[in-house]
Amino acid sequence: MGERTRVGAHSHIRGLGVRDGEPLPVADGLVGQVEARRAAWLVVQLIKAGKMAGRGVLLVGPPGTGKTALAVAIARELGPETPFMALSGSEIYSAEVKKTEVLMQAMRKAIGVRIRERRWIYEGVVEKLEVMYGRHPLNPYAEVPVGGTITLKTDRETRTLRVDSNIIYQLLQRGVSEGDVIWIDEETGRVTRVGRAKGYASEYDISPKELVEVPSGPIYKEKEFVYTLTLHDLDEMNARSESLLSILFGSPAQREIPPDVRARVDKLVKEWVESGRAELLPGVLFIDDAHMLDIEAFSFLSRAMESELSPIIILATNRGFTRIRGTDVEAPHGMPLDLLDRLLIIKTGEYTPEEIREIIKIRAHEEGVELEEEALNELVRLGVERSLRYAVQLLAPAKIVAERHGGKVTKKDVEYVSRLFISTNESARYLKEYEDKFLR
Ligand SMILES: Nc1ncnc2c1ncn2[C@@H]1O[C@H](COP(=O)(O)OP(=O)(O)OP(=O)(O)O)[C@@H](O)[C@H]1O
Ligand SMILES: [Mg+2]
Repeated sequence: MGERTRVGAHSHIRGLGVRDGEPLPVADGLVGQVEARRAAWLVVQLIKAGKMAGRGVLLVGPPGTGKTALAVAIARELGPETPFMALSGSEIYSAEVKKTEVLMQAMRKAIGVRIRERRWIYEGVVEKLEVMYGRHPLNPYAEVPVGGTITLKTDRETRTLRVDSNIIYQLLQRGVSEGDVIWIDEETGRVTRVGRAKGYASEYDISPKELVEVPSGPIYKEKEFVYTLTLHDLDEMNARSESLLSILFGSPAQREIPPDVRARVDKLVKEWVESGRAELLPGVLFIDDAHMLDIEAFSFLSRAMESELSPIIILATNRGFTRIRGTDVEAPHGMPLDLLDRLLIIKTGEYTPEEIREIIKIRAHEEGVELEEEALNELVRLGVERSLRYAVQLLAPAKIVAERHGGKVTKKDVEYVSRLFISTNESARYLKEYEDKFLR
């Protein structure tokens, strides 16, 4: 979805830039907007303390004042383990999938389940691998592996195991050779190649295997595996296993998950959590341009916030008083009051020219654009006059123009691209003038 492009424009942001509870003027890629960052920092603390259940956040402010940037910073503060799912309000309107289904899937992608599993495995360095061949069951002229023996070694012991053809096939398929460290799962027989044991010479001069330590302790042991899936991953896995038809006839990119599948997944996850096998990692669902949602979507969100399996919902909008989509009712930010009641509202304000200069410099650095001083001044002027977003967007085309004369971006280059690409205000004004002329 649009997640990557949206994050692209904010790739310079690494966090909220807060030290000792106070935002620094410039830190972690963020500039100014200190009040909003202070509030966002508190929200991060509330989320970490589990005190945001049933509530959400609303970011409000004029276009280009860093609402999306702030949401990205909150996600970075929560850490890479916390699921973060972003979508724009307009993305819920699709021809194939119901609006509420799009929202439901987004919510479930924003909740992680960290699953801990203990399994009995055989682990060691392969000392010797012997394959026994026999007649192919169908083709008498072919020989196939029918089984074999494998000798594994740790720093403590050496054991030779007799293994069946299934395991031999996996060993051959994964290119396991003597000197590799492997695991064999006792229950499933699944083979995992971990890497090349340190101190074992490679048969090849170049072989892209990661070097690992020789395993210590017994060969047969219980090992803990930890992996994180989202509720949506589990929904998909469960839905797939039961609808063979959708596998045979191909399934569309996004499809509806039957409600009973979700109910079953929820029940399963609760059992796992209760028995200590899994842990829930509630993440963040960020909905940009939230005024594009309609009344149905808003009531869905209000209800969803109540449920125990809900991510933190962060909404952003640049609209003040406006009609709630799907109704004739005007309301603050085009949102129903019962939803607004659940939201902590953070506002972002206009930037000073110095802050705009700092942000443009950071973005130029991030995009590898070298600017002459005069060019930077011109971009700051455009940022103040038109919008920050517009000035930032001119960086990439200006870079390409500068490559033609080979050198830093000059003031001329900036003027040139700002004539080619006009800002939203100008384009709207242009069409308005045109309409006026036409109607006269
Ligand atoms: N305080 C800031 N520090 C660093 N970069 C910022 C800051 N504010 C905005 N930016 C950057 O400026 C550009 C525009 O900001 P952003 O898209 O976050 O604005 P917005 O408020 O979401 O606008 P809109 O209402 O149009 O969605 C982005 O590239 C963003 O990363
Ligand atoms: Mg935005």
